Amino acid sequence: MAKIIDGKKISAEIKEELKEQTAQLKLAGVEGTLAVIQVGADPASSVYVRNKKKACEYIGIRSQAYELPEETTQKELLDLIGRLNADDAVHGILVQLPVPAHIEEKTIINAISPAKDVDGFHPESVGSLTIGQPGFVSCTPAGIIELLRRSKVKMDGANCVIVGRSNIVGKPMALLMLREHATVTVAHSHTKNLKEICRNADILIVAIGKREFITGDYIKPGAVVIDVGIHRDENNKLSGDVKYDEAEPIASMITPVPGGVGPMTIAMLMHNCVEAMTK
Ligand code: GUN
Repeated sequence: MAKIIDGKKISAEIKEELKEQTAQLKLAGVEGTLAVIQVGADPASSVYVRNKKKACEYIGIRSQAYELPEETTQKELLDLIGRLNADDAVHGILVQLPVPAHIEEKTIINAISPAKDVDGFHPESVGSLTIGQPGFVSCTPAGIIELLRRSKVKMDGANCVIVGRSNIVGKPMALLMLREHATVTVAHSHTKNLKEICRNADILIVAIGKREFITGDYIKPGAVVIDVGIHRDENNKLSGDVKYDEAEPIASMITPVPGGVGPMTIAMLMHNCVEAMTK
């Protein structure tokens, strides 16, 4: 029987701590503002944006919402980002991804001032993480580190296998685990002997976007299993990249889906916003 790593509970603790910090900052005359930009009306994006605004309200940060039409040009979006970069009252800027196809994602990410890059996607933020300098860290991998820390998982010297190499999760996750002194393997769709590599992991972090891909035979007895995936089936039931019922009896600790990694992403976004206020 694995111990369940409760992301809902841990994210609530973090948000309480941040609420306290913003209250202290308010007493010192500092009030934070996060600009949240959404282009178009993708329903999933709208849910994420709404949850981000709610979290801001909860911890005591103003959210400034920009709901732009689908036809917004890249220049119009860049002009808005330029104005927000120059506005001292705005501490963080977030452009919800994906943006419509006529807008180049890379150009938008590069336009956000690294000082306000609370998503941690700017090349300067990623570069700083790579060489161990201060900077914003992508929220999902930062949240996984918090889950492991607060669950007292020993990362120093652990064999950590990350399945997935995306810019948002896999790559920054590898850098963060290195920072914690883990021995890190990054596996992906071209990896040979994936099962054997996974079976060597003390900490297995799965972010491949394939529903219930990791079955019990990929897991070393006693491993800590972190599931980043989220999939909704035809009956609206959510599941992850890991086959939970098979993994749970083998692992020593495991994150559920929902209620594991998911809630941590917004908590760490709020953490980054508070950091942006104190810079
Ligand atoms: N779309 C999906 N995840 C994210 C995220 O973490 N940040 C932004 N800006 N867009 C996203």
